[in-house]
Amino acid sequence: MLNEAFLSELRYKCDIESVVSRYVGIKRRGKILTGLCPFHLEKSPSFTVYPDTQSFYCFGCGAGGDVITFIKKIENLEYMDAVRMLAEQAGIEVPDERSDDLTKNKRIRMLEMNRLAGRFFYDSLMGENGKRARMYLAERGLSKNIVNRFGIGFADENSYSLVNYLKAKGYTNDEIKDAYLGKISQKGYMYDIFINRIMFPIIDLRGGIIGFGGRRLGENGPKYLNSSDTLVYKKSKNLFALNIAKNTKRDELILCEGYMDVVSLHLAGFDNAVATLGTALTEEQARLISTYTNNAVLSYDSDEAGQKATKRAVTIFDKTGIKTKILTIPNAKDPDEFIKKYGAEKFEILLKNTNTSTEYEIQKLFDTYDIENPEQKIEFLQKFVSIMVAISNPIRQEVYIGEIARKLNTDKSVLLAQVKLAVKKNTSYNEKKEINNIHTFIETSPLTKGDFEKQKFPKEALASERIIGYLWNNPDKLTYITEKITPEHIVSEFNRELYNVITERISQGLLPNLVSLSGVVTETAIGRMGEILSYLNEKGIADAEVDEYILLLQEHKNSKSKQDIGNLSDKDFENYLNTLAKNKM
Ligand code: GTP
Ligand code: MN
Repeated sequence: MLNEAFLSELRYKCDIESVVSRYVGIKRRGKILTGLCPFHLEKSPSFTVYPDTQSFYCFGCGAGGDVITFIKKIENLEYMDAVRMLAEQAGIEVPDERSDDLTKNKRIRMLEMNRLAGRFFYDSLMGENGKRARMYLAERGLSKNIVNRFGIGFADENSYSLVNYLKAKGYTNDEIKDAYLGKISQKGYMYDIFINRIMFPIIDLRGGIIGFGGRRLGENGPKYLNSSDTLVYKKSKNLFALNIAKNTKRDELILCEGYMDVVSLHLAGFDNAVATLGTALTEEQARLISTYTNNAVLSYDSDEAGQKATKRAVTIFDKTGIKTKILTIPNAKDPDEFIKKYGAEKFEILLKNTNTSTEYEIQKLFDTYDIENPEQKIEFLQKFVSIMVAISNPIRQEVYIGEIARKLNTDKSVLLAQVKLAVKKNTSYNEKKEINNIHTFIETSPLTKGDFEKQKFPKEALASERIIGYLWNNPDKLTYITEKITPEHIVSEFNRELYNVITERISQGLLPNLVSLSGVVTETAIGRMGEILSYLNEKGIADAEVDEYILLLQEHKNSKSKQDIGNLSDKDFENYLNTLAKNKM
């Protein structure tokens, strides 16, 4: 258990508004902030942050809680890892715990080992054995300066170079293996993973080397070999060169496929280029990007795989609210090759004149359909209408519609009417879909799933929640409440959990707060507390109401003990079920 002093410092320094806004676009509305919920798909904002209680709650999916719960959910971390992450960002020490220290030590040692490995590769590149590698880089147009900026290095042909070096520095076989720098052969020897490769260190936002990507120099092995995930490296959550690109003066980020593309772009003056690490773009990476910019340029390879990846990336960016432009690279395989062939100025022009994704899709239609052929022209127009439906801005819609009407020699007003009709159909469809989503989500949500007691006695559960909220706001009413309401009165186990912890805290002279709660109650309970606080923030609970809730719970308990279901005859049980069914209506 974490101590109170630490938790209160964490609570103070990790303001929920600033933490959440790193992940979610939230807008202030009076005392609260709202935005699109990151925990379920939605089109209108039901995710709400309450700075007053330092809590959040989503009216759509029921996710709620404090800042730690938020980090747990969004980063998919265990409680202690979420605490650690917040503490680290806030620059506060997590109090001693032996196991914590162990992981922390492991992480520190692994980062240090990576740093040494990076240095080792760099020295090899610059040393006598690095001549061939240096020539290769020179052939690819890289200057000494750019090599230094990225810390590019060379893993030589010897299979034991790095491993021996690290062992001499005191690292064990297991440590080297865990860092994905060495492997153990069947005979039990430790040997290098990266052999005869140009090495690109992957650097996190704090400047630590967390992994490597290695490009083959000879014929052996895959063209690129990337570090697997380790204690310090998650490829789905990092981007190559973001440590540099985050400081760019340009207002967009360029996302490309390969290490070499990024390095070439930086060399050509586009210091805003980043790449995914040998995988497709993930939502986590998109969110990471959205903390720096709302504009991305997709500059993937021009081959089919690249185009497919582009589509997927657009969908992911759309979800995150990032506007995307798609760069089509003419006469070259990838940005690196384009710049080599045509130079940086041409790339800049490409960038300036680049298509928004709508224009890209329209261009695709022109590529696919022959508009001189009447049947194909109709298909073109149908597809075009569905592209227009996705644009929310009517002015932009009209611009495109005008242009296409002209190009295809059709009546603009007819086309416009078609789009309007489709939009109308589509909205009601989407709204229905959204509502369905919410329903299935609530049914399967951990918040209500398994809480049969609440499903069975919704009124009583609500009364219990109001009483908990009332106590939260009025700790001085502890005796007044606890004299009348014992934990057995409270409906649903999660509310009982909250009731127990909160009454205990108050009786110890401590004020209830979410951060202290989130370490000791279940996630369902903390979510419920988020919901209760949301109600407190929006509506508040009056003294007079509370007496009604108390009465309701007392009656409920009496009737429950009278009819202890286990003791009922079959007939009585049937009657009991009937009354329940009637009460529900
Ligand atoms: P160059 O030939 O050096 O210009 O490579 P490139 O940057 O054009 O790379 P390419 O388009 O072939 O691949 C893009 C990215 O995919 C690379 O940067 C790697 O991250 C990844 N990749 C490429 N080849 C492999 C491979 O064989 N294995 C794995 N795991 N990843 C690869
Ligand atoms: Mn390339």
